Amino acid sequence: MMEMADGTKFARKNVMDLPPYIPGKPIEAVEREYGVHNAIKMASNENPLHTSPKAIAAMQQELENCYLYPEGSSPLLREKLAAKYRVSPEQIIVGDGGEHIIILACNAFINEGDETIVCEPTFASYNIYTRLMGGKLIELSVDKEYRFDVDAVLAAITPKTKMIFLCNPNNPTSTIIGKKKMQKLMDNIPDHVVVLLDEAYFEFVSDPDYPDGMDYVRAGKNVIVLRTFSKAYGLAGLRIGYAVAPLHLAEALGRVIPAFPVTRLSQVAAYAAMDDEEFLTRVIANNEEGRTYLQQQLKEMGMECAPSSSNFIFVNIGMPSREINEELLRQGVIVRPGFLFNCPEFLRVSIGTMEENQRFISALRKIKAEYDAK
Ligand SMILES: Cc1ncc(COP(=O)(O)O)c(C=O)c1O
Repeated sequence: MMEMADGTKFARKNVMDLPPYIPGKPIEAVEREYGVHNAIKMASNENPLHTSPKAIAAMQQELENCYLYPEGSSPLLREKLAAKYRVSPEQIIVGDGGEHIIILACNAFINEGDETIVCEPTFASYNIYTRLMGGKLIELSVDKEYRFDVDAVLAAITPKTKMIFLCNPNNPTSTIIGKKKMQKLMDNIPDHVVVLLDEAYFEFVSDPDYPDGMDYVRAGKNVIVLRTFSKAYGLAGLRIGYAVAPLHLAEALGRVIPAFPVTRLSQVAAYAAMDDEEFLTRVIANNEEGRTYLQQQLKEMGMECAPSSSNFIFVNIGMPSREINEELLRQGVIVRPGFLFNCPEFLRVSIGTMEENQRFISALRKIKAEYDAK
């Protein structure tokens, strides 16, 4: 008889101890498992207005060239981004999605035994890739307003600290850290620490107190700013994101990147999407309208939302999220239940089209009424 495969026999130290990443369920899987039609996905902070039309047109033109390898470093896109951010193209690393930047940073900077700091709940990749490199994740908590806790982070820095992951706006809480606190953090960080400033949701923030991470890069701080084309530009399926960093950090990131990380289609799509002002304006307007509607409706149901600065809302539903999530799935509504982030009574819901937002609210109202009547 064949012996059962045992990954622990083969895997590198740390690999089998990694927490698995549990992504949002795909629409097709929910429709199959729950026997529903027209399921809607408000679970992965994707773009409800789909893909930039200019990006689609650019890809159509490029299709014929797909027999050729892409230019590995995405030079045209880097030049365009460099002009936009007033940095040099060498300061930009384009990767296979923003998540790739987190992987590269962990590969480039974390030695066995190094510490990284996060405020939970936050994006799971920081945990996974720190541990993959044999680093130790120091998990602090967000403060009572669900925001990154600067004072606690500064107090937790030791000679072993290598990186701080600051997600701004934070996923899953959707909160931002303001200018004053950011400045305090940057003023007090010792030279041996790199800050990975994850601004995946940058384009959605309208709060005037939101600090622009590029200022710190231009000032030469040990800061890597991560941005992505997955969210506001609607290119999640193409996998393209980038880092902007001072040269001494960008160079290290460039050493660990594969030769051809980004496809030809992704490069031309991102380049064209950057010029699609009309699409971006519509996306942001839809998001603002949906955010106001959802916050208002959730408040009416007596549920408290963390202050949202992105394209999703983190809401305390006052009911067990595992159970409520099942009920929502039965009605074909896919969200992210908080038990996955150790917040058992919360849901994270992506802002959708108005029709999707209304469907979510009406499903949740019905479920709450049944729950309250029990
Ligand atoms: C905070 C944050 N950072 C990075 C990413 C990675 O995005 P992508 O790899 O699609 O660019 C995500 C995706 O959801 C995210 O929420």
